[in-house]
Amino acid sequence: MPEEERIVSPKRREEDKQIASFPLRPRSLDEYIGQERVKESLRICIQAAQARREPLDHILLYGPPGLGKTTLAYIIANEMGVAIKTTSGPAIERAGDLAAIITNLQQGDVLFIDEIHRLSRAVEEVLYPAMEDFALDIVIGKGPSARSIRLKLPRFTVIGATTRLALVTSPLRARFGQVYRLDFYDVPALEAIVRRSANLLQIALDDAGAHEIARRSRGTPRVANRLLRRIRDYATVRGDGTITLEVAREALALLDVDELGLDEIDRRLLRVIIEKFAGGPVGLETLAAAISEEPDTIMDVYEPYLLQLGFLMRTPRGRVATRRAYEHLGIAYPGGPEQPVLF
Ligand SMILES: Nc1ncnc2c1ncn2[C@@H]1O[C@H](COP(=O)(O)OP(=O)(O)OP(=O)(O)O)[C@@H](O)[C@H]1O
Ligand SMILES: [Mg+2]
Repeated sequence: MPEEERIVSPKRREEDKQIASFPLRPRSLDEYIGQERVKESLRICIQAAQARREPLDHILLYGPPGLGKTTLAYIIANEMGVAIKTTSGPAIERAGDLAAIITNLQQGDVLFIDEIHRLSRAVEEVLYPAMEDFALDIVIGKGPSARSIRLKLPRFTVIGATTRLALVTSPLRARFGQVYRLDFYDVPALEAIVRRSANLLQIALDDAGAHEIARRSRGTPRVANRLLRRIRDYATVRGDGTITLEVAREALALLDVDELGLDEIDRRLLRVIIEKFAGGPVGLETLAAAISEEPDTIMDVYEPYLLQLGFLMRTPRGRVATRRAYEHLGIAYPGGPEQPVLF
């Protein structure tokens, strides 16, 4: 099954784009649930910038897919009352493409660069002085008569987003005044997100139903919203339209989402490490080949939550399945069962 078709994929899919046209995306910091520490810092920066009538410092957001980086970028622009232009690392192919974008920005505008770790070197070189000195160096002419002129730019704010902080080059990272990590959401925060979405979509949902969806959403709002809509379908067809604990459980069983929100691919990944590689360590490339997935997909999409659950460890020699992973899959841990302590 391709990663895009997984119900618990934290990656954006076609149906999520449609959902974006609904008012599900929070538009202000107050509406944005969870990530309290990040919100608090941002509130202070935004207020300070507004008090000084200055643009915001550049901001880098990182964390696993579906946790709300893009949403937050839009909120920041909204709270500042400025326009936001969106692009992404792979979309800016040439230095000239970037120059075209930034020369169109107004004072204070936000330039949102998604997947910023995928910018090419040449483009990054143009971005450095643009971010630091608000200047664009343009070379005119060729050969010995070539000269460079400096174009002043309005002061603007770059908000970069990445799932892979380690791949952001250090000179680029150094140009961000603020760097924030988004964490997986806890169950109460996800419950609040699910309730808010159910309200907006006019879905009947009881407390136990909300709790069940929240705890199986792998800490990810995008997954929570997706499960909510799928379970709503189930409730419409098999029940009376209300999402109760029972309805949620039945629907999730049908969707093959287990007690912890893991699906077949997550379990296969763990099972392969355990059964083919004796629990590990196994290198990322080898593991990727064994389950026919891209190493990047494994790193970005599957691993973060498995690491968070403590099912997987990254060691210098490769991935290792932990005792908890064995227990979750119902496979005997080679260390054997814990001996009862006799008094
Ligand atoms: N804090 C939040 N409160 C309520 N809803 C949220 C929150 N964060 C995210 N969402 C919902 O989850 C969806 C996914 O968020 P978003 O697209 O911002 O994630 P992302 O981190 O940019 O993901 P990616 O890395 O795939 O680009 C949004 O459409 C929004 O509805
Ligand atoms: Mg995004």
